[in-house]
Amino acid sequence: MSPTPARELPLVLVSNRGPVIFEAEGRVVRGSGGLVTALTGLASHREVIWIASAMNEHDAAKSEEHGGRPFAVRSPAGGEYMVRLVVSDPEAYDRFYNVFANPLLWFIQHYLWDLSNAPDIRREEIEAFEFGYNAVNEDLARAVVEEIAQDPDPVVMVHDYHLYTLPGLVRRARPDAFLQHFVHIPWTQSDAWRVLPANIREDIYSGLLANDIVGFHTRSYRRNFLQCCSDLLDLEVDYERGVVLCEDREVWVRSYPLPIDADSARAVAASARVAEFERDLLQRRRDFLILRVDRADLSKNVLRGFSAFDLFLEQHPEFIERVTFVSQLMPSRTDVPEYAEYLQRIEALVAVVNHRHGTPDWMPIQLKLRDDLEEAVAAYKHYDVLLVNAMFDGMNLVAKEGPLVNERDGVSILSENTGAHEELGEFALSVNPFDIQELADSIHAALTMSAAERARRMRGLKAIVTQRDPGNWVDDQLADMREKAGADERQATASS
Ligand code: G6P
Repeated sequence: MSPTPARELPLVLVSNRGPVIFEAEGRVVRGSGGLVTALTGLASHREVIWIASAMNEHDAAKSEEHGGRPFAVRSPAGGEYMVRLVVSDPEAYDRFYNVFANPLLWFIQHYLWDLSNAPDIRREEIEAFEFGYNAVNEDLARAVVEEIAQDPDPVVMVHDYHLYTLPGLVRRARPDAFLQHFVHIPWTQSDAWRVLPANIREDIYSGLLANDIVGFHTRSYRRNFLQCCSDLLDLEVDYERGVVLCEDREVWVRSYPLPIDADSARAVAASARVAEFERDLLQRRRDFLILRVDRADLSKNVLRGFSAFDLFLEQHPEFIERVTFVSQLMPSRTDVPEYAEYLQRIEALVAVVNHRHGTPDWMPIQLKLRDDLEEAVAAYKHYDVLLVNAMFDGMNLVAKEGPLVNERDGVSILSENTGAHEELGEFALSVNPFDIQELADSIHAALTMSAAERARRMRGLKAIVTQRDPGNWVDDQLADMREKAGADERQATASS
């Protein structure tokens, strides 16, 4: 990669989930989750080829239609992308996604295992790594190598925990490629990684360390990664410079907190469909509205949120019939048993709380199990309290999008274990996500806070979430990529 800032990309982006999913009758829907939100700006503004896994048979058919090559696609959320969808063997993909990446890696990286009970590492898990995780990584790596075949200065940006072994494969085929890997989820402390058999752990770390730069959302994940390289691999690390020394190479470890795209969020907030949802919401509205919007993921800590609301209503009966807790949860990874069971537990607890406190014309918790961006944004505009109480969360974009469009000086209750807390903590009510009493107290504090204090906090939040945009996020990464490429070039010249 040329270190000159003038180098115009073609750039190859690779992730498990792509910007869109094809459905029956040619319908196209936007991919969900923080990763897609982060990358859509990058991919539609620059000359980028986005390589991703085919998610279903319609994706696979599209891929085949284009001979497995990249093709242009317009996202319903706006933007046009060059996408290459890679079809893996269905059994391998199932092992990759449902046995290894989620839950094993996801759980390790969110401290979700209840270690006295799980996980059991048996043949199924080992084989899921060998013949699932690695197989899908190989399929995507092959596509990457093909796409960069003609590029004398290839640059590849790899994304997330699904693709830890891919960089090693690409490096072997193209030692000259510049590889940057961004991890969208937390990096946990070294002992959490000891759940994995040593050889699998080593494959994962050596894959990651084949990159030139590894990026995270926060300084604390960056520190944890450096610590892991020292503890688990006995590598030399420089915490100050953020460098891991691997034989004769340096791997730079950096943090790049992801901002939101304020313009596009405001555009959604001004849309007619949002206005329709708002009308409905305002008709039903009680004095106060508490809101949460999440994927139905164990890391989001949905159950403790409901327990805290239950406790709050018990301790403050004066709020009975005056407040509704709207919970919009998108079912996620439902083929993973832990997720399916979690959804059931959510529904059961909602029924209990509603039964315990509800009245003939008031349902305390309104549960919406669906993925509807406009419906969520309508609620963002009118909440009094936004609840983000994740146990651990890489960043959490809801914590940023909510305050951006909120029109009522709503108060943010924010878990101190979210990436977003590093930036927003000062203007939120910070909570320990495990402390249900503290959460109940925070709900009360938020609902009784003076208007002036609410306004002060909201001004602070809005200022922070509008300071930077995803373009800055990408530019910061590209600037480091140029700097690193330049440093490597100088070192190569000096030693030749
Ligand atoms: C998180 C992960 C992403 C993932 C998203 C949705 O944001 O960091 O990599 O795409 O969740 O999860 P899913 O399993 O539906 O892709």
